[in-house]
Amino acid sequence: MTNAAPKTIYLKDYAPFGWIIDDVHLTFRLHPTATRVISRIRVRPDYDVPSRPFMLHGEGLTHISAKVDGHDAVITEVDGGIEVDVPHAPFNWEAEVEINPEANTALEGLYMSNGMYCTQCEAEGFRKITWYPDRPDVMAQFTVRIESDADHTPVMLSNGNGLYYAQDNTQSPAPNVSIYQDPWPKPAYLFALVAGDLVAHEDKFTTMSGREVDLAIYVRPGDEHKCAFGMEALKKSMKWDEDVYGREYDLDEFNIVAVDDFNMGAMENKGLNIFNSSCVLASPETSTDGNFERIEAIIAHEYFHNWTGNRITCRDWFQLCLKEGLTVFRDAQFTADMRSEPVKRIDDVIALRARQFPEDQGPLSHPVRPESFQEINNFYTATVYEKGAEVIGMLKTLVGDEAYAKALDLYFDRHDGQACTIEDWITVFEDSTGRDLSQFKLWYSQSGTPTVSVREEYKDDTFTLHFSQSSAPTPGQDEKLPQVIPVAVGLLNDNGDEVLPTQIVELTQAEQSISFNGHATRPIPSVLRGFSAPVTLTQDIDNARRAFLLAHDTDAFNRWEAGRMLARDSLLSAIRTGAAPNADYLDGLKALLRDDSLDPAYRALMLAQPTQSELAGVLHQDGDTPDPATIHTASEAMRQAKADAFADILPDLYAANQVDGPFSPDAVAAGKRALANSALGLITKLDGGATAAKQYAKADNMTLQLASLSALLDADAGDDALQAFYDQWRDDRLVIDKWFSLQVMHAKPETLADTTARLTNHIDFDWKNPNRFRAVMGMLAAHHAGFHHESGAAYTLLAEWLIKLDPVNPQTTARMCSAFQTWKRYDADRQAKIATQLERIAAQPNLSRDTAEMISRIRG
Ligand code: PHE
Ligand code: ZN
Repeated sequence: MTNAAPKTIYLKDYAPFGWIIDDVHLTFRLHPTATRVISRIRVRPDYDVPSRPFMLHGEGLTHISAKVDGHDAVITEVDGGIEVDVPHAPFNWEAEVEINPEANTALEGLYMSNGMYCTQCEAEGFRKITWYPDRPDVMAQFTVRIESDADHTPVMLSNGNGLYYAQDNTQSPAPNVSIYQDPWPKPAYLFALVAGDLVAHEDKFTTMSGREVDLAIYVRPGDEHKCAFGMEALKKSMKWDEDVYGREYDLDEFNIVAVDDFNMGAMENKGLNIFNSSCVLASPETSTDGNFERIEAIIAHEYFHNWTGNRITCRDWFQLCLKEGLTVFRDAQFTADMRSEPVKRIDDVIALRARQFPEDQGPLSHPVRPESFQEINNFYTATVYEKGAEVIGMLKTLVGDEAYAKALDLYFDRHDGQACTIEDWITVFEDSTGRDLSQFKLWYSQSGTPTVSVREEYKDDTFTLHFSQSSAPTPGQDEKLPQVIPVAVGLLNDNGDEVLPTQIVELTQAEQSISFNGHATRPIPSVLRGFSAPVTLTQDIDNARRAFLLAHDTDAFNRWEAGRMLARDSLLSAIRTGAAPNADYLDGLKALLRDDSLDPAYRALMLAQPTQSELAGVLHQDGDTPDPATIHTASEAMRQAKADAFADILPDLYAANQVDGPFSPDAVAAGKRALANSALGLITKLDGGATAAKQYAKADNMTLQLASLSALLDADAGDDALQAFYDQWRDDRLVIDKWFSLQVMHAKPETLADTTARLTNHIDFDWKNPNRFRAVMGMLAAHHAGFHHESGAAYTLLAEWLIKLDPVNPQTTARMCSAFQTWKRYDADRQAKIATQLERIAAQPNLSRDTAEMISRIRG
C-alpha cells in the first residue's frame, strides 16, 4: 500500500487570490452531529492582478446548496476545494453545508470539547467549516449569527462586538440567537465561534483614549475560581502594549475562553481568544509558579497578536514568523518588565538550546522563513517562534532601541490592515534607519545554528579579539554565507571591574578582528553578553577563567553562562573519563548560593545543570557518540556531589527562602520558592526524603506540593504521597496531568517503558485529550536515559501510540514525532531500533499528511 504522492507547496509559487471579499455573513445552526453553516459573501474581481478562477477551499463538508447571484452555482471539484463559474464582475456567493462537530477529533474547524462548541481555524481549519478562500491574504468583514438550542448553549460567542442576543420565538423549538459583528477585516484563520454552558469572570479596561472595554474569561462551571490571575494578566498586557508600543485595543469587548481539548497553547482569534485550559486556568492550590508565569506570558502573547498578527497579518503561511517571531519577542519583553530581565533571558536561552538548537542541528532544520512545506501545521516550530524572536532581538540590538521604536511605528502606520511579508518588515527598518539589511535577511533564509569562534591576543597595550563564523550544512543548504551577527562584548580587569562597558561588535565576514587600545594590563573579555545572537560560541578558555567570570562578570547572563559552561565541561569529563566533579565549579557555585544580594530566582537557575539531552547534543557535535546511560550516571553523580559539597549551607538556604503569609505568584515569592525547592532536591539526596515529606504534609500550594512529591519520588519514597495526591486531585484534569507526568519523569531508565505502558492502562488515561497524551507520551520522550534505554522498548511504545493517535489527531501526532529527530546522534544499534519504528509508522496505510511529512523529513 502506498500513500498518494504528497503535494509540496512553495513560497516562490505565491499568487494572489484574484478576488476581493467585501463582507461575509455566516449563520450557524448548531447541532452536535449536524450543524448547518450558511455563508453569504460579496465578491468582486481584484482588477490589480491578472484574472484567476474563483477557487474556494473546503474539506469534509457535506454540500447542501450553492448559488451565485441567486442561481444554482456551476461547481467543479479541484484539489482541496471547488472552482465556481462566476462572472468577472461583482457577485454574491451563497452556500449551505453541513458539518459534524462531534466527529471532529482532529480539533481543527468546529468541534466539541466537553459538551461545548468551539473552533480552531489557524492555519487551515476554516475550510472545514464552509467553502471559503482560506488563505491569510484574503481579509474581510464578518457578521456571524449563531442559533442553538437554548438549554445547552446559553453562551454563544464570535469575533468582534456582540450586537444581539435573544430567543427567537418565531421558530419552534425556539432557538437562542446571538449576532456578532467584527468591524475589522480579517483572514479566515482568525474566525472563532464558541457556544456552550459557560460562566464568565468579568472585568473592564479603560483604554488610553478613554474607551471602556468589557473583558471576560469564559470557563466551564466549577472553574470560576481559576480566572482571577488570567484577568489581571490580561489587563497588564493591555496596559503594557499601550505604554511600550502605543497600541490600543480596538473593540468593545475582549473575550477569552478556556477549552480542555486543544492542540496548542492558545489562539489569538480576533476579540475571542481560545485557550487550552492549561494555559489560562490558575489557582494557588492547583498551579505551580511555573504555570502562573507561563499563563501570564501566553495571555500577553495572544493579546499582543491583536496588533502583530491580526491588524497586520501574514500574506501567506511562509511568513508565519512575521507574526510569531515578533509576538514572542514582545511577550518576552513584557515578561522581562513584569518580572526579572536576566532571569527571563536565561530561561529563554535554556529553552532555545533545549528545543530550537536540536531542531536546527538535525533533519528537521529549516529557515525561520521556510520555502516549502507539505503541511503548514508542521511549521509551528521552535525555529519559527523562538529563533524568529531572536532575529527580532538582534535587529533591535543592531539598530538601537530608539530606531527600533521608530521602525515599529512606521510598520503599524504603513501596514495596518494588510497581509504582509518579511520583505515588508525589513523594508520598514531600512526606510526608517537608512541601513542596508540585505545581509541581515539571511537570518530568515539560512537554516542552522552558526558557530562563532573567538581567539584573544594581547600586545603593546592592545587587546584583540579574532572572530570567525561558520555554519554546518543543513537539509537543502550545503553552502552557507556569513551572516550579520551582533556580538555583545565587555572587558573586565583582574579585580572584576568593568574596564569597557558592553559594546556591540557586528560580525559580517567569515573572519573579523576587533582591537581595544590603551589597556596597560591584559583585560578579560566577556563575550556574547546577554546571548546577543542565537549561535554556538566556542572559546578556548580554561576553568580558572570561567570561575573568574562566574564570580565577577558584570553581565548577569554571562555570569550564569560561565557557571553553566563549568558544569558542562565537568560533566563532559565525567562522561568521557570518569573524572570527579570540578572543584572550581562547586566552590564558585557555593559562593554564589551564599550571596544573598543575588536574586533567589537567579541562584536557582545557577544551581541547575545542563540536561542529559543537551549533553548528548554537545557530545555529538564534538564527534562523539553519546551513551545515554553514562550521561545519566554522570548527571546523577553531579547532583550528589553538589548535595555533599553544599551540605553545610543547604539547610539555611532552604530555611531562608521559605515564604510566609498568603500565597502570591509574584516573581519575588516565586523566586524564593524556586531556590528553596532546588535546595530541597539536594537535601533529599542527603536525608532520603525526610524534609520533603514534611514539606509535602504541610504544602498549601501546588508549587510546594509538587516539588516535595518530586523529591520523594526521586528518593524512591513517594508511593504514599503519590496515592494521596491522586485521591486529593482526581477531579481536576490539569492536576491529574501533572500526576501522570511526574511518574513518567521519575521512572528509572530501565523501567520507563513499563511504567508508561502501565499508565496508559489507567482509567484516567484519556488519550484523545492532547494534554493528557502529552503529559504521558511527551514525558516519555523527554526522559533521555529512559527513552534511549538500550532495550529500545520506549521507542516501540511511543511509535505504537503515535500510530494509534494519528487517525484521530494528526496535528498532535505529527508534533510528537520530533521525539525521534535526534536519532542520528546515537550508536548504530539505537539508530537501527529507531529506524525500524520510523519505517513502521511510515508504512501505516492512510497515514496523515502531517505525520507522513514529519517522518519522511526525520528519516532524511
Ligand atoms: N497562533 C497561535 C499562537 O501563536 C498558535 C496556534 C497555531 C494555535 C495553530 C492553534 C493552531 O499564539
Ligand atoms: Zn503566536
